[in-house]
Amino acid sequence: MNYQWYPGHMTKAKRMMQENISLIDLVIELVDARVPLSSRNPDIDELGKNKSRLILLNKSDLADPRVNQCWMKYFKEKGFYVLEVNAKTGQGLKAIQGMVREACKEKIERDRKRGIKNRPVRAIVVGIPNVGKSTFINSFAGKACTKTGNKPGVTKGKQWIRLNKELELLDTPGILWPKFESEEVGQKLAMIGSMNDEILQMTELAGDLVTYLLSHYRSDLLGRYQIAEEGQALTAQQVMETVCENRKCYKKGQEPDYEKAAALVVEDFRSGRIGRITLEEPAC
Ligand code: G4P
Repeated sequence: MNYQWYPGHMTKAKRMMQENISLIDLVIELVDARVPLSSRNPDIDELGKNKSRLILLNKSDLADPRVNQCWMKYFKEKGFYVLEVNAKTGQGLKAIQGMVREACKEKIERDRKRGIKNRPVRAIVVGIPNVGKSTFINSFAGKACTKTGNKPGVTKGKQWIRLNKELELLDTPGILWPKFESEEVGQKLAMIGSMNDEILQMTELAGDLVTYLLSHYRSDLLGRYQIAEEGQALTAQQVMETVCENRKCYKKGQEPDYEKAAALVVEDFRSGRIGRITLEEPAC
């Protein structure tokens, strides 16, 4: 399948990041815990190279808890600060403040030596579309915080959200686009729903997903669709046939409706109904 993105917006978003990065002490990078590498854009390493970095493994509630631990270790070993969070429920967000202090201790110390008191750490939230940036800003900033108004040098219209005396957040997240280094990356992003479904061939996508689940999360998959193992190896096609039967996905007459079954399986996966599943794993 040929995976596409919306290239028109890319340059504008990158420019916004470049314009604002000099004002920033800390980059809070959100990645999707189900695909922590495929949901990153390597440009961020260049853009934020002299900044402290906090990586948030968001949607960790949908990802395999064992693999979340592996990814935590992986990013720590790369020298990043990292936390597992659920922006939707707010789980894990309390630990951020302490981690920010730790990540920015050099800046805080520098300020202190220069006699600068109470200058908050300024942070920007970045990530690819749909990774949870807006949800995170809303949950983290809550309703209690105040906008501090425009500051010189900040792109017109940009505002800082003052979270407390130690931390300010740029209210507009930096949108990055994933790099389609390989078809596999595109495929994983399609599976988690970070691409326009209209351009996807659902039956093919569901087939690839089921093939992966059969080898990595077999009991979750078979349990969800009440499929019994009967000795010989199950194929993705057989799984889809059973899903059609068990979920009554038929066209007029008794013809199986594979498109409907495919959409159902993909949606069940995206919403976590098949289980907590991660699509890529570091050596750990
Ligand atoms: P973006 O700004 O980066 O583009 O992402 P956004 O916050 O719009 O979030 C995209 C979707 O991901 C939203 O779902 C949001 O609720 C969901 N989401 C964000 N963080 C988490 C998380 O930690 N766990 C889970 N399970 N979901 C998360 P949606 O279906 O578009 O909207 P809604 O139906 O949830 O309102």
